[in-house]
Amino acid sequence: MSAESIDQYLDDNAQRFESEFFDWLRIPSISTIPAHAGDVKKAAEWLVARLSRLELKPELIETKRHPLVYAETPHIPGAPVIMVYGHFDVQPVDPLELWTTPPFEPDIRDGSVFARGATDDKGQLLTHVFAVEAVLKDMGALPFQIKFLFEGEEEDGSESLTEYVPTHKDKLACDCLVVSDGAMFGPGQPAITYGLRGIMAFELTLTGPKQDLHSGTFGGAVYNPAIALSQMMCKMIDEHGRILVPEFYTDVVPLTERERRQFADMPFDESDFFGKIGLKDGFGERGYTSLERRWARPTFDINGMTSGYQGEGGKTVLPCKASAKFTFRLVPKQDPAKIVKSVETHLRSLCPPGITMQLDYQHGANGLLVSLDSPFVEAAAKALEEAFGCPPFYTREGGSIPVITLVSDVLEADVLLLGWGLNDDNAHAPNEKFSLADFHSGIRASARLLLEIAKFQQQPGT
Ligand code: BES
Ligand code: ZN
Repeated sequence: MSAESIDQYLDDNAQRFESEFFDWLRIPSISTIPAHAGDVKKAAEWLVARLSRLELKPELIETKRHPLVYAETPHIPGAPVIMVYGHFDVQPVDPLELWTTPPFEPDIRDGSVFARGATDDKGQLLTHVFAVEAVLKDMGALPFQIKFLFEGEEEDGSESLTEYVPTHKDKLACDCLVVSDGAMFGPGQPAITYGLRGIMAFELTLTGPKQDLHSGTFGGAVYNPAIALSQMMCKMIDEHGRILVPEFYTDVVPLTERERRQFADMPFDESDFFGKIGLKDGFGERGYTSLERRWARPTFDINGMTSGYQGEGGKTVLPCKASAKFTFRLVPKQDPAKIVKSVETHLRSLCPPGITMQLDYQHGANGLLVSLDSPFVEAAAKALEEAFGCPPFYTREGGSIPVITLVSDVLEADVLLLGWGLNDDNAHAPNEKFSLADFHSGIRASARLLLEIAKFQQQPGT
């Protein structure tokens, strides 16, 4: 085996990797929209076909909702087991009119491919598949075992995989879980991420009268659900970014001085970060820096609010319904099961007379902090430096990957979060993109990681 011959294979096949990646991007596998369930399945079938070419006998595992895809190389007694996780479902594309080119017709501009799912997570997931292909071609067989666990429901809370993991512990047993579903610290600045935030997602529906009303005839005599919703939402967070749900902060572990210093020492360019999203300044919880707010403090966000007349021109209506979708981001140790009760009690206490409220708790996941004291982290640091020409930054992330905490707890595995994306890749937004140079560096880094892990073998205790 040699890094040079693998690099040669990656160069020789670079075009094909891209065209296969683009084919996969054409499948609109939006997991949150029921009409796209068939497309999520097609994306799973595409992946099964792709993995079959590696002679891995992949399985398409049906669930109550979207399928899982699983494959493994042969078990090697005494050698490490690495499990790669990723997701092949994508977020909705709205607002469609803001896309420069259609979201499911991959388009290359300025060295990046633009399409929904490019960075989150089809492109990042595939880097590991192509790396395994290259290493298998070179070595014939791996001196350790690789398992692939891919899901089609990550963007909708990973309920099916959450049920699957605890009941398939032996099948999924591994020493290290490798995930590329996040970002580097910045362009050309690879990262090993040691923390993710958790999440809780809700939908609140307020209902007043049985139908929409004339706002002149009834206004002033009937509680308007849109006003009730606005008032209630205003009591979720104050103007200093502090969440107002009682007990919300009880289990929040304060940042250590050491970590605050580490964050402060990072070359984080605030004006560039905010400039790229069309802002001069950020906003957040008083007393914290932007990195602290994004990586290590809990937050509340309204994802969407709906009520009343939204069409052209005016309409003097008093709407009968109002609803909001909102999420909290949690830090490790905050328990969604505990907080859900406080949220419900708080909202019920705020709900005015004449309005009925329904609160749907959609999904929740704990945050994650992983140890950097692991031979896998050492191996990854070497691999990243070789592939990107720069040693990694050690970062936390504000996003959530619901199943990772569960997998690391249930399977007691180390976790390697190696994102190849960028913060301005427009994940979940119009014009999502992924740098093709980073796609190829990601494949190379993954291949190097496998070579590093292959060297573990003779060492005791691995
Ligand atoms: N790739 C993201 C997670 C992520 C985002 C990691 C930013 C690092 C930085 C993932 O696909 C995602 O979007 N997860 C959802 C989970 C939710 C829908 C349960 C998220 O964070 O909103
Ligand atoms: Zn996502």
